[in-house]
Amino acid sequence: MDYNNILLEIHDNIALIKLNRPKALNALSPELMQELTDVLDRCEADPAIHVMVLTGNEKAFAAGADIKAMKDFSYMDAYKQNFITRDWERLTRCRKPVIAAVAGYALGGGCEVAMMCDFIIAAENAKFGQPEINLGIIPGAGGTQRLTRLIGKSKAMEMCLTGRLMDAQEAERAGLVSRIVPTDKLLAEVMNTAAQMAKLSQPVVMMAKECVNRAYESSLTEGLLFERRVFHATFALEDQKEGMSAFIEKRTPNFNHQ
Ligand code: HXC
Repeated sequence: MDYNNILLEIHDNIALIKLNRPKALNALSPELMQELTDVLDRCEADPAIHVMVLTGNEKAFAAGADIKAMKDFSYMDAYKQNFITRDWERLTRCRKPVIAAVAGYALGGGCEVAMMCDFIIAAENAKFGQPEINLGIIPGAGGTQRLTRLIGKSKAMEMCLTGRLMDAQEAERAGLVSRIVPTDKLLAEVMNTAAQMAKLSQPVVMMAKECVNRAYESSLTEGLLFERRVFHATFALEDQKEGMSAFIEKRTPNFNHQ
């Protein structure tokens, strides 16, 4: 299927999803978000896809929700459509891993979409922010919640209350991004990381993701119990036998993904 706002490339077991509205700095229009939802549905359903990478271009990952599309919204429009739940939260329901490769602006909804991914690798020129306050609104897709959990109250408050942007160095120090790479090497580095993950046991990678996410949704005791149960379950997989046999036989494991 062809998309108007997204480019989808398949590289072996990796789906590279590029937000593609360069003239609008990848502003996240309703149509773009619908297409993203559709792409993610397809990737999740396709057994050949092990990892998704979400990216933009060198100038912008995404400069936010499309201001032109929502300028004339009434309260009732927003409420009735449950703006933005329907097409914006698909990312948070992905069971396969999703890496955000962020160069340039990741602002407002763009920062929120990046935070919905499992981890963010940032280019040196990346800029993160929740500038909604300058528009007379507040973040609506997790900016006040996920950002606070990721970087703590003080920085999240300052960003949400003043709209100040963070550069890549500050974002890495604060724990928003996992690491920074040179801007011209961003995609190569992220695809390399994705390729390493794609070679691992797919169910075990998915289980690890599920467990880390549990840390956000439960007490430590419950999270540890959940982890232990899933850890025990990995011993039911052929991939566990293969992984450990390969280590002992001093060879590279060849996972069957089952
Ligand atoms: C619609 C946008 C846009 C946006 C940029 N553009 N951001 N269009 N929605 N969020 C468009 C501009 O109108 C312009 O189109 C073109 O992209 C280039 O933008 P410029 O402003 O000319 O570029 P530049 O001077 O380089 O400035 C870059 C920028 C600035 C600092 C990122 O564009 C900016 O401040 N954008 C808005 C950022 C923002 O406020 N984001 C939060 C949105 S609210 P034309 O046609 O004029 O050339 C949000 C709420 C989410 O995300 C809540 C959950 C849904």
